[in-house]
Amino acid sequence: MTGGSRGIGRAVVLRFAREGFAVLFTYKSNIERAREVAKEAASLGARCVKYVQMDLSDLDSIRSAVSEIASSAPYINVLVNNAGILHLDSLETASVEDIEVVVKVNLLGTIIFTKLVLPLMKKAPWASIVNVASIAGETGNVYASTVYAATKAGIIGFTKRLAVEVAPKVRVNAVAPSFVETDMVREFLSSEEKRKQIVDLHPLKIIIKPEDVAEAIFFLASPKLSRAVTGHVLRVNAGRFT
Ligand SMILES: NC(=O)c1ccc[n+]([C@@H]2O[C@H](COP(=O)([O-])OP(=O)(O)OC[C@H]3O[C@@H](n4cnc5c(N)ncnc54)[C@H](OP(=O)(O)O)[C@@H]3O)[C@@H](O)[C@H]2O)c1
Repeated sequence: MTGGSRGIGRAVVLRFAREGFAVLFTYKSNIERAREVAKEAASLGARCVKYVQMDLSDLDSIRSAVSEIASSAPYINVLVNNAGILHLDSLETASVEDIEVVVKVNLLGTIIFTKLVLPLMKKAPWASIVNVASIAGETGNVYASTVYAATKAGIIGFTKRLAVEVAPKVRVNAVAPSFVETDMVREFLSSEEKRKQIVDLHPLKIIIKPEDVAEAIFFLASPKLSRAVTGHVLRVNAGRFT
């Protein structure tokens, strides 16, 4: 599980913990939050919880995280590629350095991390990858930036093609959420007025919670619940399509 220290990642860690999985997650810099999530996961029934520092924008960091993971897990059943960063600047105003970081974290780092973790998944009796894309990768979302949308569209293409490449051993699916109440979009939900605007964007008239996304991810990861599903993008969007 990448980016398990907060938001959607934290909810996914806790969802798998409740099922008694051995959970291993990464964080980038917030070790206190990682420690808290690990404690919570253990108290919910996770058999073994480990957290590893990894920065997806840094190839050495990815390599060292994977070797740490490999030294503590003989195989991996489920990989959730969740870690990501938001970007809001227009293409014209964004700095080239910022563009590079967003592409590295959201797309390139995720692809490389998956490549390095795949051998561990192939050793497992069953294996499933769930990538966290976004509504921004499917529609011309007016909030997130063009660069962010490009990375999430990339994740969707990656999901569909990898599903074919690694079948029948590994299933690969994605979720594409709309706004989810996490630190990432805190600013958009910071007043009652702003919250109402976001609620009104969604036909279901709700603000999506990290737990809503975690349930969708759990469904796609589980061989019991979705053994015939691969290459699919599950929209967790409360009915929003634009
Ligand atoms: N929230 C939304 O509305 C929304 C909607 C659609 C899609 N998504 C996608 O859902 C995923 C999770 O989003 P979230 O809202 O839960 O985000 P979040 O609350 O901001 O948490 C981000 C997680 O990613 C980690 N992370 C940040 N930068 C990283 C880097 N350079 N390398 C590796 N890990 C890094 C963070 O670690 P630290 O805690 O150590 O910083 C944290 O665990 C992202 O891919 C996002 O694009 C979110």
